[in-house]
Amino acid sequence: MTEISSMRVFVTRRIPAAGLDRIVAACRAEIWDGPLPPPRDVLLEKVAGCHGIVTLLTETVDARLMDAAGPQLRVISNFAVGYNNIDIAEATRRGIRVGNTPDVLTEATADMAFALLISAARRIVEGQRYVLDGHWKTWEPLGHIGQDLSGKTIGIVGMGRIGFALARRCFGGWQMRVLYHDRQPCEQADRELAARQVDFETLLAESDFVSVHTDLNDATRGMFDATAFARMKSSAVFVNTARGSIHNQRDLHDALRDGRIFAAGLDVTDPEPPDADDPLLRLPNCIVAPHIASATVSSRSGMAEIAADNLLAGLRGDTLRCRVHD
Ligand code: DGY
Repeated sequence: MTEISSMRVFVTRRIPAAGLDRIVAACRAEIWDGPLPPPRDVLLEKVAGCHGIVTLLTETVDARLMDAAGPQLRVISNFAVGYNNIDIAEATRRGIRVGNTPDVLTEATADMAFALLISAARRIVEGQRYVLDGHWKTWEPLGHIGQDLSGKTIGIVGMGRIGFALARRCFGGWQMRVLYHDRQPCEQADRELAARQVDFETLLAESDFVSVHTDLNDATRGMFDATAFARMKSSAVFVNTARGSIHNQRDLHDALRDGRIFAAGLDVTDPEPPDADDPLLRLPNCIVAPHIASATVSSRSGMAEIAADNLLAGLRGDTLRCRVHD
């Protein structure tokens, strides 16, 4: 077995002990302890001479960073299921293994999408603000009217693990009709949820709720723009727990402001965090959470365990537990 105790590793943030303790015990690890990501110039210095790096979605892992690390870099272990922050083609070209942390956050992320969907549809956050601001004077027969969920249509963009988990909740809990848009058919969804694969335009036109679960790539970047929002029902709720750049934030703002769509629930924004003066944050029909879908005890511990397994396997030259490429 390859001896890794002298190998150097940089971990760009403190992650749960379930993974971090094993990393620290196994190799020469340096952990960035700040509450914010290391500044880019510091990151480039810190990775110099490292054999492995544990990164978060806040770090851009490109050719420059790989150059700064040096030719001994063997593995990049991303503490996330998404890896749009990493130049995979460049890593592959250099023979650097890249790992991610799927599965352990599927149910937590679907729960978050579900929470945003119902909160936006039923105007729960807006209602709380109303109470806290002292506006609640009486029961209002015409006030706070939201959208029904039972028997409606959910449109899933990206029927992978998380998309399926949300569709299962909507189908089982609210007897929703399930539409999805994906490059691949999902036989399990077709069979178990009576789901129907449709083109993007049909999904937009027919769905009462549209939830994004695709990865961020050149095809999905900005796919929810003014044209897409204009095709949706004016009663529709838009949910994004995937990546903020999949929606155009200005177009989303305009659609919500003008009542083109009913409401939105976002766990992701573009950029993150949004600018403090982003007008989206002032809209009553938009809920914004700080990218917390995987923030449960078991998900984050599971992510840390997989990140450690990936890192240590990569240092040893073994196959990663969850690898993004060969
Ligand atoms: C991921 O894993 O990609 C999420 O966005 C953060 O948990």
